[in-house]
Amino acid sequence: MQTVASGVAIIGSGSASPAASLDNDGISQVVDTSDEWIATRTGIRNRYLASPQESLTDIATLAGQRALAMANVTALDLDMVLLATSTPDDLFGSACQVQGALGAKHAVAFDLTAACSGFVFGLVTAAQFIRTGTYRTVLLIGADLLSRWVDWSDRGTCVLFGDGAGAVVLQANDCDRFLGFALQSDGSQNSCLNLGYQPKAQPLTANLSVSQGTYQPLTMQGKEVYRFAVNRVPEIIEKALFQANLDAKQLDWLLLHQANQRILDAVAKRLRIDDQKVISNMASYGNTSAASIPLALDETLRKGQIKSGDVIATAGFGAGLSWGAAIFAWGP
Ligand code: COA
Repeated sequence: MQTVASGVAIIGSGSASPAASLDNDGISQVVDTSDEWIATRTGIRNRYLASPQESLTDIATLAGQRALAMANVTALDLDMVLLATSTPDDLFGSACQVQGALGAKHAVAFDLTAACSGFVFGLVTAAQFIRTGTYRTVLLIGADLLSRWVDWSDRGTCVLFGDGAGAVVLQANDCDRFLGFALQSDGSQNSCLNLGYQPKAQPLTANLSVSQGTYQPLTMQGKEVYRFAVNRVPEIIEKALFQANLDAKQLDWLLLHQANQRILDAVAKRLRIDDQKVISNMASYGNTSAASIPLALDETLRKGQIKSGDVIATAGFGAGLSWGAAIFAWGP
């Protein structure tokens, strides 16, 4: 196949949340905690939680439809649907269910798993397909329902997470608006944050057993993850900025994975970025994993705060451990 190199632009966004929410006073009825403890340590005051009737596919599809509408693109225009999630409805993947629900008949669809880094890893993956000229229009959705996997008796983790979905449309563009990126992984620190499979032996024959276990609730070493984030995230943003030939001073917005306000503040301080440029909505949503970046982007865009051409540094970080940054200018 003959391929043509192309520029990349991000031209639309959308988001969706479950119907029900639980504030810090509400979660204090579930575990021994308080609004004061959660708000001062994390900045989180509320989170949306999916009911048993709400599926990952449903909210991912809704976020995707809203992004298509903003981009003025139809589902039939899509060449690829990429779903960043760690909580699919089906372990074989949920991207094809989303593709079917959207009616994106011409698009190839697949899941991408990189936990809270999933959206940034997805952004880079989508951009590569467009840059090489292979695909023209890509819908990238970040969606997670971590409430399915949180240990609701562990106050050290359950207060942090919420459910949600966010999406962006990337398209081939004469002017290249995807300016730089850097991705990294460190499997030696894998045990800091897990949602692991626990094997359980089921004997089949006298000398053969298979494993018929289940996934266990999320576990986290909070202090290690905090230290990792405040050290590695500024470094990776600087790497991406270097690739983009830009300085942190030239950024209009810092859009980090919404894990903890103290992490956002520490990263902004290290990069000497003004508080007014730091996008933050975790007070309302908690940590929505792969959804947090596009959710925060969409909310800020719909408030009219981000203008076409604004330069945004985004960074995701989390389980793996994995982390990554991308620099882009908003709009075509
Ligand atoms: N409410 C009240 N008390 C709580 C609590 C809660 N929800 N969770 C923990 N505590 C208690 C602990 O039991 C401990 O009590 P003790 O001193 O009597 O033993 C005390 O608060 C301190 O706990 P610790 O876990 O050391 O707190 P911390 O200062 O490390 O803060 C986090 C905990 C989770 C807020 C912090 O480590 C963090 O934000 N880490 C990064 C997590 C993250 O972002 N993960 C996602 C990455 S994608």
